[in-house]
Amino acid sequence: MAATSASSRSSRVEPIRWKRDRLELLDQRLLPGKKKYLTCRTADQVAKAIRDMVVRGAPAIGCAAAFGVVLGKGKPKAYEVLAKSRPTAVNLFWALERMRKATNLEAEALAIFREDLAANREMGRLGAELIPDRARVMTHCNTGALATSGHGTALGVIRSSKGKKISVIANETRPYLQGARLTAWECVQEGIPCTLITDNMAGHMMSRGEVDLVIVGADRIAANGDVANKIGTYTLAVLAKRHNLPFYVAAPLSTFDPTIADGSKIPIEERGADEVTGYGSTRWAPRGVKVRNPAFDVTPAELVTGIITERGVIMHPDRQKIQGIISTGV
Ligand code: MRU
Repeated sequence: MAATSASSRSSRVEPIRWKRDRLELLDQRLLPGKKKYLTCRTADQVAKAIRDMVVRGAPAIGCAAAFGVVLGKGKPKAYEVLAKSRPTAVNLFWALERMRKATNLEAEALAIFREDLAANREMGRLGAELIPDRARVMTHCNTGALATSGHGTALGVIRSSKGKKISVIANETRPYLQGARLTAWECVQEGIPCTLITDNMAGHMMSRGEVDLVIVGADRIAANGDVANKIGTYTLAVLAKRHNLPFYVAAPLSTFDPTIADGSKIPIEERGADEVTGYGSTRWAPRGVKVRNPAFDVTPAELVTGIITERGVIMHPDRQKIQGIISTGV
């Protein structure tokens, strides 16, 4: 089985490169300033790369974990360390389950990678039908090629709608700045018109009629359609409701977790205080201040206009519709 190659991609960005004896990960902590790959030769190194945000975004984490199992030769220790890397994105646990059942580990990891790319392209095709010509599309976090095996989920839909002359409003995404650093970078790389704003400008832009719709990704979708995604997504969904704007979620079926009844049961990662008190070597908050840093929030299904999956769009998602798409594919 061949290593992953640039020719199988629909974006110039290659976040994950499989080289049979090693995994090369584009170090997303350094973007947009520096384009440098980190080489992992063990499952421990892949788990550390996931934990440290070298690779991030739900589908990309799942793909990286699958290759981590290959490097760890399928030993129980490999599964254990990878499962502990990050808690919220269910794609990680979904990929590990698939690997557990596989007979040929490398073939399965490559299948997970390629299926994700195919799912992204199909979501792009289906989602593009929902985006009007010249729409001004607000998005949050990074959901592009960097967050997947290539192309992207929400940003993939935007990428697939390029012919319609749409423009992107990228929210900065405090505190880790995935929007400012990564989404803006992907858009600039590909000539997708993009305007960067800070998160607290979203309501103002909507109230001035400068946004036509919102589209985001997801890290885990509960059985009832509640969506866990990057912190700040819930606020956007409430604002979109207030301004009567469509609020779409683009996510592959690997992001659905039918074992979780509703969003209140989704584990939410709490990250370090240093991400809130400053950035890089700069610190702006006083030492000793108490800090909270939940990395994700939950948007109730009732605020979601539709979930775009590779099997179809679930309009006004509920338990029954989600069960239907997961089990029958209709
Ligand atoms: O903390 P991150 O950067 O891994 O969070 C990523 C997100 O929240 C994305 O919006 C989500 O994974 C969907 S993208 C494909």
